[in-house]
Amino acid sequence: ETKHDLLGKRILITGGGTREPLDPVRFIGNRSSGKQAVALAQRAMQRGAEVTLIAAHLEVEPPAGISLVSVSTAADMHSEVMTLAPGFDIVIMAAAVSDYRMDIVSGSKLKKADNGGELHLTLIENPDILKELSSSKSAQQLVVGFAAETATEDELIRIGQEKLARKGCDLLILNQVGWDQGFGTESNTVTVLAAGGDILNTATGSKMSVADTILDCIATTPFHNA
Ligand code: C5P
Repeated sequence: ETKHDLLGKRILITGGGTREPLDPVRFIGNRSSGKQAVALAQRAMQRGAEVTLIAAHLEVEPPAGISLVSVSTAADMHSEVMTLAPGFDIVIMAAAVSDYRMDIVSGSKLKKADNGGELHLTLIENPDILKELSSSKSAQQLVVGFAAETATEDELIRIGQEKLARKGCDLLILNQVGWDQGFGTESNTVTVLAAGGDILNTATGSKMSVADTILDCIATTPFHNA
């Protein structure tokens, strides 16, 4: 039986992988499928929340019954998150956002160079949406970040704690990823860190069951002045 512990909560979720164009026909992307974000959206809705999903590139259908905002680049996602976030109680940033974009996007298809086989691209940093939102949010809002890491299990927690402190979010979902793990797969392994760095919970299983564990942690985290 589904609990309704998120009844009336407004939850904004980001998901999928951003795509940074090189030219009109090419992009730099990542292997995020959006499955974990879609599972979070579905379970949050079933637990009573009003859900908006800001979706970059998804390889699965978003659930019916949510509001969908489609974006492509990190810049698009940045502007949608900053515009929409003030209207939400909880923001979960599960999207795999590109840390870099092209300094200049070519207006025409890049040509193969004849300089001995090398192509050099100059990339510049994208805004860190999670960090910016965490520092500008209201005290009543809960901001949850993700960290997709290829680190070994013993390095993972320390890397997560550092990232949590740097980003300033309220919860961090540490996600072990690799060539055949995390991105694109049906199951997931996560560790949930609280703001102080303590381990709140760990979960391995289907992305639906992991979504429930994450939402359990969110539902039981007291809002700062609630
Ligand atoms: O720094 P890193 O990319 O590992 O951080 C991951 C977390 O930060 C995720 O929650 C992701 O959605 C978010 N992020 C962001 N803006 C970026 C890069 C990542 O909000 N430019």
